[in-house]
Amino acid sequence: MPQTTPKGLHRLAFGGDYNPEQWPESVWQEDVRLMQEAGVTMVSVGIFSWALLEPEQGRYDFGWLDRLLDLLHEHGIRVDLGTPTVAPPAWFYRAHPEALPVTAEGVRFSYGSRGAICHSSAAYRAAAAGITTELARRYGSHPALALWHVHNEYGVPVSACYCDGCAAHFRRWLRNAHGSVEAVNEAWGTAFWGQRYSSYEEIDPPRITPTVGNPAQQLDYRRFADATIRENFRAERDILHELAPGVPVTTNFMTALSQCDSIDYWAWGREVDLVTNDHYLITDGRRTHVNLAMAADLTRSVAGGAPWLLLEHSTSGVNWQARNPAKRPGEMARNSLAHVARGSEGAMFFQWRQSRRGAEKFHSAMVPHGGTDTRIWREVVALGADLDTLDEVRGTTTLPDVAMLWDWHSWWAQNLEWRPNEAHEARERADSFYETLYDRHLTVDFAHPEADLSGYPLVVVPALYLTTEAAGQNLREYVENGGTLVVSYFSGIVDEHDAVHPGAYPGALRDVLGLTVEEWSPLLDDQRVTVSGPDGATLTGDVWTEFVRPRGAETVWTYADGPAAGGPAVTRHRLGRGTAWYVSTRLDAASLDAIVAAACADAGVAERPALPRDVEVVRRTGDDGRRYLFALNHSTEDAVVPLDGAGVELLAGTPVDGKLAVPAGAVGVVRLDG
Ligand code: GAL
Repeated sequence: MPQTTPKGLHRLAFGGDYNPEQWPESVWQEDVRLMQEAGVTMVSVGIFSWALLEPEQGRYDFGWLDRLLDLLHEHGIRVDLGTPTVAPPAWFYRAHPEALPVTAEGVRFSYGSRGAICHSSAAYRAAAAGITTELARRYGSHPALALWHVHNEYGVPVSACYCDGCAAHFRRWLRNAHGSVEAVNEAWGTAFWGQRYSSYEEIDPPRITPTVGNPAQQLDYRRFADATIRENFRAERDILHELAPGVPVTTNFMTALSQCDSIDYWAWGREVDLVTNDHYLITDGRRTHVNLAMAADLTRSVAGGAPWLLLEHSTSGVNWQARNPAKRPGEMARNSLAHVARGSEGAMFFQWRQSRRGAEKFHSAMVPHGGTDTRIWREVVALGADLDTLDEVRGTTTLPDVAMLWDWHSWWAQNLEWRPNEAHEARERADSFYETLYDRHLTVDFAHPEADLSGYPLVVVPALYLTTEAAGQNLREYVENGGTLVVSYFSGIVDEHDAVHPGAYPGALRDVLGLTVEEWSPLLDDQRVTVSGPDGATLTGDVWTEFVRPRGAETVWTYADGPAAGGPAVTRHRLGRGTAWYVSTRLDAASLDAIVAAACADAGVAERPALPRDVEVVRRTGDDGRRYLFALNHSTEDAVVPLDGAGVELLAGTPVDGKLAVPAGAVGVVRLDG
């Protein structure tokens, strides 16, 4: 069994990316002193240091890293050591320009930034294995080493390369996946538009074409690119396992950020020893703490419910969005503790000391340009103390209430061109369904469509366009065995090759939903429909409507206007011991909540206490019966959270009984008795 927690780290992780090579060594002394003052327990080092560690091919300079690791060890700080393979040195590119990735338009990127990598390049693979081997040999048994941090955020900034080397690699991948070229023709439907191939040699990556390229080819290319990147992760991981046994290996994910949609984290979660994630607030006008919660829930789910670790977030503003607001007082701690509530074994940041030079000099850090007489530093020190106090939650797990299906392959397929309505976005539906559940104070597990769902009373399915036969069968069995399902429109439409399931829509879900859809009628911009239902209530939808034919399902809500006026809009199908709801339009938040409320009632999901929607309540429990309740008040009003029993609020160390006062912006963590 590989080690799955950072070796020798017996506290919650607290610290950040530490890039001391940007500073004279005299600053390092101040760094470790300040780290101790803040209660830092682990830092990530060397992630971008290849050019310093191997200044010429085969010539290594480990002196500075030796001194650094020794210094950190002397100060009791554990090390998450990077393999710097995301930033190859200039000498490497001069020798191997073919390792620079090429866009679908045929443009080869230059070096001088980071992440310029063609993952099919044999030269890159050899060089990455070389530096990884050297690091593993030199530091594998260093007493400071707690965790290996392979590469950095695989999948960004380049998700796929389209060079000739990748073309050859793609053909090999296709052979393996499909066998004969005839099977590729069949899977891709190349009879359409005369795209038939006679041999593998004729097949290229889906480079730029005059009009829409073959969708199944594009989908396979995303799978190929993801698998190729994963091969490179595995190669490094295996070297580290062999040369440094007992030290867990991770790579930092970006699970719920739409900036990184090219990685199938279900597959990656099985490859790492410890799941770690990076999360940054996206300032798009929405409630940032909802996306944060979703990222944390998705990360925990990718980790199979096991503890995971937040490896990066920011103390305040980032510098890569169009607008980068500073965090409000208290927001950093709320963000950190929200991740901990949802399963993270600590809170780490990018980065320790704010850079003076380079692309990220305006990105916040734990030690800002302004030094220690700053709000950020004071909040960092306070957070370190809070995490120290909360150490006892380590090893407990977050309790889910309901599940949401999530599949990167479906997301990839759904984002291809020429769909019925470009205003429909798979991700928007997932966000909206999640937000509805969040606002009802339900903790969400994410699940792969073919996963065992039997433990969940309610499963929601936002726009699962690509649904395999096996997934359809899985959902049917889930309902027959007593589950409650809520499915949104544009689900169950195509198979794994983006081919429409035979027969009427929604092919893979017709049986479980007890209906067919004869035709879609997407709406124009600004067009809305009214849906009327029980007791004269109305709901509002936009973007999408359909002509639904119930075949066993009952019509609960009906289109009052719009193209499908008079027809079913929301249906319910009793099947076996369970119920399957279908929602055929894009409901607004209040309307979606009405349907989810009805489904929760069917599922026997108990109503949560009436709390404001921005008061987040999450539970962690231990195998030994320990119970913790995290209450995070993201609102501007003080709140009182009911408790089922008495206990201790750990951050203030005060006894509580039956209720917990959580002032505006504050966090309370209760260990419940018994
Ligand atoms: C992450 C990356 C870090 C840093 C950070 C800034 O995506 O891993 O190196 O760039 O973003 O927000």
